[in-house]
Amino acid sequence: MPHSFSHFFLISLFLYTKCIAHRYTFTVKEVPYNKLCSTKKILTVNGQFPGPVLKVYKGDTIYVNVRNRASENITMHWHGVEQPRNPWSDGPEYITQCPIRPGSDFMYEVIFSIEDATVWWHAHSSWTRATVHGLIFIYPRPGTFLPFPKPDHEIPLVLGEWWKEDVREVVEQFIRTGADPNVSDALTINGHPGFLYPCSNSDTFELTVEKGKTYRIRMVNAAMNLIFFFSIAKHSLTVVAADGHYTKPLNATYITISPGQTLDVLLHADQNPKRTYYMAARAYHSSPVIRFNNSTTIGILRYISSSNAKTSSYPSLPNYNDTSAAFGFFTNIKSLYSGQVPVKISRRIISTVSLNLLACPNNSCQGPNGLRLAASMNNISFVTPNHVDILKAYYLHIKGVYGTRFPAFPPLVFNFTAEDQPLILQTPRLATEVKMIKYGEAVEMVFQGTSLGGGGIDHPMHLHGFSFYIVGFGFGNYNVTKDPSSNYNLKDPPYRNTATVPRNGWIAIRFIANNPGTYLALFHITLYRARSTVTLGATSKGVWFMHCHFDRHLTWGMNVVFIVENGRGINQQMLPPPPDLPPCY
Ligand code: C2O
Ligand code: CU
Repeated sequence: MPHSFSHFFLISLFLYTKCIAHRYTFTVKEVPYNKLCSTKKILTVNGQFPGPVLKVYKGDTIYVNVRNRASENITMHWHGVEQPRNPWSDGPEYITQCPIRPGSDFMYEVIFSIEDATVWWHAHSSWTRATVHGLIFIYPRPGTFLPFPKPDHEIPLVLGEWWKEDVREVVEQFIRTGADPNVSDALTINGHPGFLYPCSNSDTFELTVEKGKTYRIRMVNAAMNLIFFFSIAKHSLTVVAADGHYTKPLNATYITISPGQTLDVLLHADQNPKRTYYMAARAYHSSPVIRFNNSTTIGILRYISSSNAKTSSYPSLPNYNDTSAAFGFFTNIKSLYSGQVPVKISRRIISTVSLNLLACPNNSCQGPNGLRLAASMNNISFVTPNHVDILKAYYLHIKGVYGTRFPAFPPLVFNFTAEDQPLILQTPRLATEVKMIKYGEAVEMVFQGTSLGGGGIDHPMHLHGFSFYIVGFGFGNYNVTKDPSSNYNLKDPPYRNTATVPRNGWIAIRFIANNPGTYLALFHITLYRARSTVTLGATSKGVWFMHCHFDRHLTWGMNVVFIVENGRGINQQMLPPPPDLPPCY
């Protein structure tokens, strides 16, 4: 290649990367907030609750410097961002990194690739994500277009939960007692409980719209332990994306959203502007025995011209336990694109997802019968390491941190969804077992809910590092011979990162274990990898966490880790670790 040409090439590459390199500073600190007639200090990013919105173009790489200026450990996760080859910046504490200690910093390199629409970020250490979270808006690259008409405005909408007590106390208490955690005191829209709660008349989210305009609501369910129904009075909504992937436009009068999930919803301001309209969210909760927060958070939708409107309408939401309403919505969501689902499967995994009970000295715990509540996958209640993270242990061949024997099939086959279960089945095994996967394998994973632990409940299962197709779902026991042929959608199933297993039912997901590096992502990597002082060995491809996004179930062990081994090509290998990775000790 002649010199002048290669120089020109390098210079234009440099200019290009300069324009798209985004840097952010997230200072994690405690700040007082007053809600529900009382004040407490909460953990925030830059003092904001909910945290700041990040805005990127599809395929960007951004750098977020997380400075821990709080008094507890923190890590940050970019939920829904696949991070091709880069588990180092994925965030789950003691899975892919050790925590950032108070007073320390860590620069996260967040590599976007195939994601569109809306995803989000949140802390991933203990229950710190309760107040440390925010949205990520993804825009089409300049010169490319949205698959729906350009909306007039964008509205961030974060659904959450608020405790009057310090969240650290909630965690400390339920771990100590073995009982269910205290339910939250309020549900929130963009941090506001709304006027149905005490002292909250002026702590109500308000959205002002103009008649005839279209608003793109970019929403996330950031609650710790609740699935939500959400609706806006008299207005129909059009879902256009879910979990950072476009969907076929779906008109809906209400939506169902599980913790961890994001939705892009078009709101058409086409109603009588002389009235005001309420939006509301409350729980979908299928268990008749487990306590939950059954209150309602309200926001106000006002038309510009109606500042003194007198009549207002409440939306109608499905009942708390309306399973067909909840799953009717989930199953109506279809991928915008057809024909991309892996058809030939090379690796099948079936895993139960269960609530369990553990023995407690002198039956002194406060779970049922003096026992301690737990949760498991394939009867293994995951024990999170607490000295070194699994990624580092894998990369540096440190022995004794984890085992590789997560079973591909339930160790004991029984009637998983029977009304009564023999006591012998309730006790899980405590262990740190991972599942090894070869690069490029086509994986099908079936989650089988069980009725253990008080009749069971739904589980929003989330996978880091990948999106997956939700190819099937059903109630009762999964049937290996019948369900794949009669109950699967292999044409246009939704492509998501969090899928809800119905109470006493199952779902099946499929994904290719390649954590795809698109051309664009690859392109960025080659330019940014100046830090690479470590030689790429034939070590590893990635360590990816999978867990229930109900945080109490996560704490109780409804988790597993996938280790995807390296492929042969240079772009199929995991990247080297960043130099400022927080130390373990
Ligand atoms: Cu949104 Cu591992 O989580
Ligand atoms: Cu769960």
